[in-house]
Amino acid sequence: MSVTIKSAREIDLMRESGRILAIVHDELGKAIRPGISTKDIDELGEKLIKSYGCIPNFLNYNGYPASICVSVNNEVVHGIPRSDHILQEGDIVSLDAGLIYKGYHSDAARTYAVGKISPEAENLIKVTKQSFFEGIKMAKAGYHLYDISNAIDDYVTSYGYGIVRALVGHGIGTKLHEDPQIPNFRQKRRGPRLQPGMTLAVEPMINMGTGDVEWLDDEWTVVTADGKYSAHYENTILITDSEPEILTLPR
Ligand code: MF3
Ligand code: CO
Repeated sequence: MSVTIKSAREIDLMRESGRILAIVHDELGKAIRPGISTKDIDELGEKLIKSYGCIPNFLNYNGYPASICVSVNNEVVHGIPRSDHILQEGDIVSLDAGLIYKGYHSDAARTYAVGKISPEAENLIKVTKQSFFEGIKMAKAGYHLYDISNAIDDYVTSYGYGIVRALVGHGIGTKLHEDPQIPNFRQKRRGPRLQPGMTLAVEPMINMGTGDVEWLDDEWTVVTADGKYSAHYENTILITDSEPEILTLPR
């Protein structure tokens, strides 16, 4: 495993990449409502990314056919947008988006409510988001990578939710997926030491029931094995001398 340390120049490019992605996510979030198709979301996202002179990094990645992963309810991640998949009141929808700015990738995900949703679904979304923030409390120089994993696990498990183990977070930079892999569940070792200049995509995927998942026949869409709801929250972060910098939140 070799984790890249970004130079000051690279960090500036990662910052700009993340800043643009944060804007794209905010715009997509505003578009979520009953009646919109998952394909409409993808088309809007692709248009926004290109309007900033950036490239959608998911499009054609290992053959993935869209720019935005749109995953509804029991779909965990990598849902494929479809014009005949219309969002309904009460759904929850996870949007995973990424882009390339001057050669540097950013990656982030949010889960939104479609209209009014159940208190149980609200809580799943809230705990999933907070688990990211619990995890990155450990994302600083002097700590180790799996301190993040363990903090996410402790927090999520205290709510009785299932953590998806089949998919993990990752390093990011000139490639979408770089070393290291970042599990969202407890590890027996503390893993590699965190160092300033590492850029990481931390992305808990949390299920209302068990953490077990399956793949649909489209070879992409990951769904919960028990059919219950799943949520996703992800940001690209920078390890610094002190607090981590979250590159994909609005500034
Ligand atoms: N954000 C996703 C991840 O880190 C990237 C999805 S790649 C795609 O796994 F091809 F599915 F879009
Ligand atoms: Co990712």
